[in-house]
Order: sequence, then C-alpha cells, then structure tokens
Amino acid sequence: MHHHRCTRLHTEALACTGAGPSTEIVILSEAQRSRRTCILLLLLPLPLLLPLPLLLPLPLLLLLLLLLPLPLPLPLPLPLPLPLPLLLLLPYAFAFAFAFAFAFAFAFAFAFAFAVAVAFAVAFVVAFASEVGAGFSPDTLSRQQKGLQPLGLSSSNTPPAKLRPMPPIQTIAVLGAGTMGNGIAHVAARSGLHVLLYDIDQPALDRALATIHKNLVREVAKEKLTQQQADEAHSRIAPHTNISHLAAADLAIEAATERLEIKSALFRNLDHILRPEVILATNTSSISITKLAAQTRRPTQVIGMHFFNPVPVMQLVEIIRGLQTSQPTFDAVHALALQLGKTPVEVNDAAGFVSNRVLMPLINEAIYAVMEGVATPEAVDKVFQLGMAHPMGPLTLADFIGLDVCLDIMRVLEQGIGDPKYRPCPLLIRMVDAGWLGRKSGRGFYTYA
Ligand code: CAA
Repeated sequence: MHHHRCTRLHTEALACTGAGPSTEIVILSEAQRSRRTCILLLLLPLPLLLPLPLLLPLPLLLLLLLLLPLPLPLPLPLPLPLPLPLLLLLPYAFAFAFAFAFAFAFAFAFAFAFAVAVAFAVAFVVAFASEVGAGFSPDTLSRQQKGLQPLGLSSSNTPPAKLRPMPPIQTIAVLGAGTMGNGIAHVAARSGLHVLLYDIDQPALDRALATIHKNLVREVAKEKLTQQQADEAHSRIAPHTNISHLAAADLAIEAATERLEIKSALFRNLDHILRPEVILATNTSSISITKLAAQTRRPTQVIGMHFFNPVPVMQLVEIIRGLQTSQPTFDAVHALALQLGKTPVEVNDAAGFVSNRVLMPLINEAIYAVMEGVATPEAVDKVFQLGMAHPMGPLTLADFIGLDVCLDIMRVLEQGIGDPKYRPCPLLIRMVDAGWLGRKSGRGFYTYA
C-alpha cells in the first residue's frame, strides 16, 4: 500500500513538472551574479590598452636617431643658407622636437586611459559593494560572532536579489498526508493558519483527517484545547488531490516520501504553481536543501523545516539553510516555527543535518547488535530507556519512525558523506525487503495489533 502510494505520487509529480512555459524570472541567481562579476573583472584592464597604438611609430623614431650621425651622401647645395655647424644640428633639433611631442602625446594618452580605467574601477566597486552590502547587517555580524555561519560560503551574504516583499503567512500548503504531513497540518491549523493539505491519494487524505481528528480529541481530553478551538482547527484544513489548487498558498511545506527524485519533481512543480515570492520549505530529514533549491527559479526562498514525530508533541524544528537561502527567508520561517509553538534550531546543510546524522547511526548500530546476537531488541531498548533515560529505546523508535525511512536516511548519509561507517545494517535491509516496516505495517522489531 505504502509503495503503491509512493509510486503514484512520484508519477504525478514528474508528469506535472513539464507543465507551463518558463515565466517571469525575478531572482538573479548567485551563478548569474558571479558570472557578471568575472566579466567585469576581465574588462577592467582593457582601457589600459588604449595608448598602445601610439607606440607603433616608436621603432621608426629610434631608427631615425641611429641614422642621424651618419654622413649624408647627398651633394650639399652651395652656397649654404646657414652656417654648416648649424645645418648639421638641424636634423637633431627636428628629431628631438618630434620625440618630445611624441612623449608628450603618449603621456597624455596614457593619463587619459588611466583615468578611464580608474573611473571604471570605482564604478565597478560601487556596484559590487551595493550588491554585497545588503548581506552585512548587524544580524549577520552577530551570527558570525556566534560561529553560526554556514560551512563554506556565507549564505547570509547572499543578496536578497530582486526579492518581492514576503507576504504575511495566512495559508500554508502541506504536501503529503502521511505521518509528518498530517502532524504539520495539525499544528498549523491549531495555531490559526489555513491549511491546504495535498496528497495524490484520496484514501491517504481521509486517513490523515481522521488522525488529525483523533489527535485533536486527545488534546481536548487533556484540556490542552477547548472543543471550539479543536473544531475551528479542523475546519481550517482543506484536503486536495489536485496540486494546482495550492496556488493560493503563502508558504508551502513539502512532506512527501524521502526520495530525491520525488521531492525534486514536486519542487519544480510548486515553482510553477505558487506566486514567485512564496517560500518553499521541505520537511526532508536528510536530503540536501541546496540540491532541492537548484530545482527551482527561487533558490533564495527554499529552506529546510524539519519536524519530529509526533509533530503535535515534539518541540524541535530544525531549520536548515541551503547555500543560497536568503536571510528574509530564514527570518520568515524562524518566525513561523515560533508561531506554531515550536523551538527552532538553526543547522547547516549537510547530509542528515544534526538529528539524523547522530540518531540514525545509533539506530543502525543497535540493529547490528541484534544481528550479531549481542542482545535481544528488548534488551537493547531497556539499556537506553533505563541507562540513558531515552523515552523509547532505539529499536522501538526505529519501528515508530518506519524502517524504510531509517534505511532511506542511512543511504543518504552513506552517499552524502561517503564514509563506510554509514553502511546500512544488512538486517535493516532484509526487514525492509520483507515489508516489515515497523508500526505502520504491523511488524518490525516488535509486532503491533
Ligand atoms: N498528537 C497529539 N498528542 C500526542 C500524540 C499525537 N500524535 N502522541 C502523543 N501525544 C501526547 C499524549 O497525549 C501525551 O500527552 P500528556 O503528556 O499531556 O499526557 C503525551 O503526548 C505523551 O503521550 P503518551 O502518554 O501516550 O505516551 P508516551 O509517554 O509514551 O509518549 C511519545 C509518547 C511522545 C511518542 C514519547 O514516547 C517520545 O517522546 N518518544 C520519542 C519520540 C522521538 O524520538 N521522536 C523523534 C523521531 S525522529 C523524527 O521524527 C525525525 C526524523 O527525521 C526521523
């Protein structure tokens, strides 16, 4: 069932991406800017070449000066108009006058060219500084001092380009009605936002709405919400199976299957459907934000917003900047996480971010311990619950997350970081092959009713 749904979502997403000719491009990409900078730098010394043609007569002049001392073979007209010594000096006088005029002209032309080059350089520096300057806010400085700059290039120096003002966020689109998608829709609706919940599969949407209802009822029973608040939250969620119905969204959060090709196709599609100023966030748990951003014409407005299961309960949202994510995009998503009642933590874009880079190798190693007969799943889990105060042991947690999701994330870590220590445990691969996906399939390291 799960595989069936993934395949259909994948197919539609890919089919939709071809749609629509390329429309108005409002963002000047980082690549375009750096290409323009390179061209300007190459053009910079060109004015200095201007006086070069003036050097052409120079060899002739040198030849003349060399030949002058030679005795003239011509017969001298008599009587001479001037005394002979003066007559002999005359060519020297002409030659020196010519050389002086030439030197003067050359110096003048060179000074002129130099002035043009300086003016050109000043114009270039002013233009360049105004592009880059936008990134040097006091906020950037304080983040630099805190050592929170992304690895490599500083994305906060990415100019906000020709950004249109960020719209106030009132309606969000959530793509994917699985565990994470329905949890995100739940917290968004609970905090007063309108939610367009999209999935290709109507039964998946029905299940998501039923789960949200059940969890809202649980929150009313625990007196976290009043009945009226729960009813209003429920009524703010509109399910859709047609992706073009998301066009009204002020922000999108993609929570589809953890596969690069599926997410890429959805991002290309959203880029065509949503207004150019709208932010595209992804709930990916490990895939590169920079790669997904590169699928769109708005890479400065693509960001990671990683929620944790169960979304209504877990406090954390990892916010991940792609290489080109702009500061206004980061600020808007940071504020949104707070509005949803979550605690945002900023991390850099590297495979698995922080959460799964650390959690998944722990789970993978626990599976190795079971495979090698070191201990039973129950014993491994008890060690972590009682010895390390984890609310769930790693194998219960793996069943809770989904063993297929754990395997996908291990593969992203293995490929993305390239270290064999991230090799997925063979037992994990075999269990996924068998369809033992954990809680959702009724069997994983434990069995579920
Ligand atoms: N919606 C709303 N509330 C929920 C809920 C849901 N889906 N599930 C549980 N709750 C609430 C319960 O109502 C209860 O509330 P009170 O504290 O007010 O009573 C509270 O959460 C605890 O629930 P329970 O008493 O039913 O069960 P529990 O004490 O065993 O807690 C748990 C359940 C919150 C899931 C807890 O076991 C836990 O924190 N486990 C670890 C979960 C975890 O690590 N999640 C991260 C997974 S990694 C991930 O998601 C990201 C990734 O990329 C893979």
